Amino acid sequence: MAMRWKNTLKDCDVTDETLFLNRRQIIGGAAAGLGLGAIGGVAHAAPEDLEPNAYEDITRYNNYYEFGTGKDDPVNNAGALTTNPWSVKIVGLVDRPGDYAFEDIMKAMTIEERLYRLRCVEAWSMVVPWNGFELADLLAMAGVQSSAKYVAFETAYRPDEMPGVRYPVLDWPYVEGLRLDEAMNPLTIMATGIYGKDIPNQNGAPLRLVVPWKYGFKSIKSIVRITLTDTQPPTSWNKSNAREYGFYANVNPQVDHPRWSQASERLIGGGLFSKRHPTLMLNGYEEEVGDLYAGMDLTKNF
Ligand code: MTE
Repeated sequence: MAMRWKNTLKDCDVTDETLFLNRRQIIGGAAAGLGLGAIGGVAHAAPEDLEPNAYEDITRYNNYYEFGTGKDDPVNNAGALTTNPWSVKIVGLVDRPGDYAFEDIMKAMTIEERLYRLRCVEAWSMVVPWNGFELADLLAMAGVQSSAKYVAFETAYRPDEMPGVRYPVLDWPYVEGLRLDEAMNPLTIMATGIYGKDIPNQNGAPLRLVVPWKYGFKSIKSIVRITLTDTQPPTSWNKSNAREYGFYANVNPQVDHPRWSQASERLIGGGLFSKRHPTLMLNGYEEEVGDLYAGMDLTKNF
């Protein structure tokens, strides 16, 4: 944990000291209170200078349109979401289709910490210390059949608990999808925690996808259904505007959004001092996942 604070001097320079100390306590506290036994895996693809955002940044500035389109609507409204009991239906081209209770999933999985960049298509970013497990391990529980080529995901749809679904901002429920090789990549995780605490509702409790090399909208929250299929599944943002949001949604500084540049991003946190950083190809994970797109025209498959 401590190694993440290598750059503390830089951090002190730009952050009020009380805030800075609080942030350190949060991190220390999380480390002390983990109690999850299995945590401790070294974060994949985490360069040494990657510093996690404060817990407050990660949990108070969100996109979860089922609870409203404002950045603080999720923290204010998502408390209404019932996350216990919870189960995930895994169906389609699998050997053992069925309802998988969240507790049973958690008993079977090894929870690790992964420090990942999160780059939203809106050109802001954060660094998040997730806790979770590899999606491949969950899919193995259900037994993926050899004919499967894609994985489709669906978020809960609860009009009684989700005030945002009254508005046709998107075609509810929120759906997403990955190619099977993307889903099986070891960087792709299901997150169940942040800073060693259960993931808050506004971040997608009790389990959400995290695909760190893709724009944040691929990282679908509060998943209730996973379908293995042989055809490319529809995805919410692509359905709403196919010209602006592709199926792949790989972070790419060279392929601009039709309405704004994707060459740089604003790192959330730091208040007045928050500044723009250059956006990295595949969000900095090119070495790990670049091969998945060898030979593809990324301006067409955006
Ligand atoms: N999942 C659902 N179900 N609904 C959403 O509105 N927003 C996406 C993604 N997952 C969204 C969602 C977008 S645009 C982003 S950037 C990330 O969640 C934000 O994750 P965070 O709030 O944990 O930072």
